[in-house]
Amino acid sequence: MSKVKVAIIGLGSWGECHLEAFRSLPQVEVVAICDVREELVRQLGEAYSIPDVYTNADELLNRDDVDLVSVVTYENSHYDPTVKALQSGKHVLVEKPVATNVRESIAMWQTAKEHGRLLVPGHVLRFDPQYAEARHMLQSGRLGKPVSIYLRRARPRALFETYQRTHTVFELTVNDLDIAIWYAGSEVKSVKAYGRSVMGADVPDLVWACLEFANGALAVIENHWLTPNEANIIMADSVEVVAEQGIIGFEVQHAGLQTWSGQGRDTSALHIHLNRNGRVSGALKEELGYLCDCILSGEDPVQTSIGDAIQGIKVAEAIIESIRTGREIKL
Ligand SMILES: NC(=O)c1ccc[n+]([C@@H]2O[C@H](COP(=O)([O-])OP(=O)(O)OC[C@H]3O[C@@H](n4cnc5c(N)ncnc54)[C@H](O)[C@@H]3O)[C@@H](O)[C@H]2O)c1
Repeated sequence: MSKVKVAIIGLGSWGECHLEAFRSLPQVEVVAICDVREELVRQLGEAYSIPDVYTNADELLNRDDVDLVSVVTYENSHYDPTVKALQSGKHVLVEKPVATNVRESIAMWQTAKEHGRLLVPGHVLRFDPQYAEARHMLQSGRLGKPVSIYLRRARPRALFETYQRTHTVFELTVNDLDIAIWYAGSEVKSVKAYGRSVMGADVPDLVWACLEFANGALAVIENHWLTPNEANIIMADSVEVVAEQGIIGFEVQHAGLQTWSGQGRDTSALHIHLNRNGRVSGALKEELGYLCDCILSGEDPVQTSIGDAIQGIKVAEAIIESIRTGREIKL
């Protein structure tokens, strides 16, 4: 295999980023894309010169010339295309949350094992230089073991109009759960969580979760969709890890490019995905390039972990249960 032949299912806002990032990789050929929205997928097929476009994922998955499928559909519709792709012999990158319940996430993993294919969760933060460097420092042992992990992720209110389609824990918190589990290097033992619905939706727009790990580490995760739109701050995220002999952390909120104009302030998140003058950069490109290199070389993609992602889904369910009952949940 000289190039990895890739297909993408789900070409919404993040799926188009996948398309741009894959097309920028020299070791990849994007052979097909699929979205149930016919006009959208045809337009993208023409704009990016993709040979084959589909509105039915089953038809795409019948092809035997695809090595890797990226599943970038809605949060609660990853299961069907993922399992069918694995059964038809393709490797799969499935976006976060891999599933919105533990049962589906375990069934996906079992299918991957039965068919000897890779199942990689789309936890892109593992490829963001700041998150990755913090993990590298913790792994080096220079700071000792992590004892306290604080992770904050805040988004503007306007985005909640779209993403309240999924519980906040599966939309925002799963990103931080994957990082907390990766940094702690241990399983979560118990969870106590709180949720508030400030804007009145059915799902909370603010979540606090306190986790205790089997190795004694603690984590606090704070997520909300309450940044005023007028503040024009896309990401207001923080990380602080207190270890036995030191502290490591960073802020996304006050870093990066800002534009001040007659319309107020604007901030840009350039580190995840950027396409300028046909040149793509960012953590997404790193993640997809790493996976494709592993497929070509036959190496295990050890920077990713479907086991950690599934543990994240278990913890996410426990957080929802703790918010509902007001009780501490043991795992
Ligand atoms: N890792 C990240 O940083 C990150 C960022 C954004 C989104 N995401 C994840 O990516 C996924 C997609 O998010 P989005 O913001 O692009 O959503 P979106 O609503 O913009 O796009 C989803 C697309 O999937 C298509 N679709 C749904 N079911 C389909 C099916 N069965 N077959 C073919 N097409 C189908 C829809 O028509 C739509 O175009 C979600 O799981 C989301 O959580 C991850």
